[in-house]
Amino acid sequence: MQHDTIAVIDFGGQYAHLIATKLRRLGVRSVITDPQDRVSVYDGLKGIILSGSPALASQGEESDYNKQIYDLDIPLLGLCFGHQQIVQHYGGQVEFAQREYGRASLHRVTPSPITEGLDDIEQVFMSHGDSVVAVPEGFVELGFSKLGGAGTEHRFAAVADEKRRRYGFQFHPEVDDTKSGDTMLRNFALNVCRCERTWEMERFLAEEIEHIRGQVGDRSVFLLASGGVDSTVCAWLLTRALGPERLHLLHIDNGLMRLGESAQVIAAFKEHDVSRHVHFVDASDRFVAAIGDAVEPEKKRLAIGNTFIDVFQDEARRLGLEGFLLAQGTIYPDTIETGGTKRADTIKTHHNRVPIIEEMIQKGQVIEPLAELYKVEVRELGRTLGVPEPFIERHPFPGPGLGVRVLCADSPPADQDRAALTAAAAPIAEKLGFGALPLPVQSVGVKADLRCYESPILLSAAEWDYEKAELVAGEIFKRVPGVNRCVVAIAPTAPRRAETAVTQMTRARLDVCRLADDAVMRGLARHDLMQTVWQCPTVLVPVRIDDGDGELVVIRPVLSERAMTARTARLPRALHSELRDEILAIDGVSALAIDVTSKPPGTIEWE
Ligand code: XMP
Repeated sequence: MQHDTIAVIDFGGQYAHLIATKLRRLGVRSVITDPQDRVSVYDGLKGIILSGSPALASQGEESDYNKQIYDLDIPLLGLCFGHQQIVQHYGGQVEFAQREYGRASLHRVTPSPITEGLDDIEQVFMSHGDSVVAVPEGFVELGFSKLGGAGTEHRFAAVADEKRRRYGFQFHPEVDDTKSGDTMLRNFALNVCRCERTWEMERFLAEEIEHIRGQVGDRSVFLLASGGVDSTVCAWLLTRALGPERLHLLHIDNGLMRLGESAQVIAAFKEHDVSRHVHFVDASDRFVAAIGDAVEPEKKRLAIGNTFIDVFQDEARRLGLEGFLLAQGTIYPDTIETGGTKRADTIKTHHNRVPIIEEMIQKGQVIEPLAELYKVEVRELGRTLGVPEPFIERHPFPGPGLGVRVLCADSPPADQDRAALTAAAAPIAEKLGFGALPLPVQSVGVKADLRCYESPILLSAAEWDYEKAELVAGEIFKRVPGVNRCVVAIAPTAPRRAETAVTQMTRARLDVCRLADDAVMRGLARHDLMQTVWQCPTVLVPVRIDDGDGELVVIRPVLSERAMTARTARLPRALHSELRDEILAIDGVSALAIDVTSKPPGTIEWE
């Protein structure tokens, strides 16, 4: 069936995907489009939302998008930057003035179908420097905003031209801090765009099964199954559509998986009779050899990605499966390269989209039954299909696996650089009762949307809590250039010296990281934290503390929504002690720390 659909134009703001997922939660299908897309992509759609953007409308930034959207006779809703664009397009005025950030109140002055059911005063979330200062002819002010109870009035926080069905909100209804944001989006989708709510999992499943049968015909399908949520749900879906006889699964142990993962994945596939043909290849030696002495994350990623394809092709040849359709668990965010990810330096090539796969897609040799879904929807589909819960609840795990969590080093940084960092960071930390020791390695971070390789600082104190540690970290990030990460020592509690351990990727080091990760995962499960903690990488850092005979392990527990930003997840004290005892007992580890860095400035992975 044709689902009523709303497009979200991604102008590069953080929230375009959030808007799309919120609409889908309301039962309305949504798709992400690019500002430059031809206007024909909107044929048959019910409405368009223009997202926010880091660009400034008042300076004409990002203004070369396809303006033909304004000729379409379907409702438009602009949010933040999108709001300013709509107003500017129809002749209103936008100025760089009256910056607002955080929670504000929306005071309604004119009723509208888009604000139906709202209170006269509503809490909304603002984040903007530009403001609408005059609305065009035909538009009315629906409400103004105030920051704090006594703040000055900020006009035109919500505007509408009911006749042309053009709407604008200066605030972000998609963010949870806008209390009635869901009502506002529902009003737009149902009252204004007149969408029917047909986007539900049972229906998607029935349609997708038909679709798979149509595309596959009487052929067989070959699926690379890593054991991650996406490929596992994909396997269950394919077997529901085609039966276990026509599905071949290949699981590659790349040596970069978690402890016992390959065995678990294969056992689960066999136990549930997902496929009659479960193939397995242990290619760990090939992967470790391919990484060799690479230190830079992008180099490691490339070596791992290329080896995946080599092994896959060898196995397909060996098993005589070359003529089969290749199935992939690609999900919606993997398939779109939109404003948010356009900058070359933030792109990580997705392993589902390397050139050889692209070529196969062109030839119609690839099937991607999850390509329409977001992660939360994949999980929901998995539950509908009866995929075992432990697979569904898994934390996101990077394609290159422990390859980006076992850091390598080929040389220590210069002594004078470390001395300068110590001189800058130590006085700041000391004021709040912490010691500060720069670590002689680099890790990835993200500052002002650019990836950067900078130094982590090891903080220490006999007694500490997360709040204080995050405060110190925040001060250091603000005042010490060249630092993108702070970690707090769990053991030893008063570190004095840190030396680089020059080392490359080895099987032994991967095993150390695997054991430590396993201890962390079991610890989180024991404390019932697997669901609350969004992701928790365990990293092996090639640094020796106080001449210890092993390396440093860092635990990185984070809270996040979609990994674009992250906050530290605070672990209970008891878990700290348990992990200290268990991880320090691993041969090859002699120090343990917890990462207390938000993203930005640190990324989730250390790479
Ligand atoms: P960062 O480290 O950029 O991570 O904050 C954001 C999310 O992406 C995952 N991640 C990766 N996934 N290949 C992947 O498939 C990679 O190279 C990679 N690096 C990071 C990370 O686990 C987090 O969920």
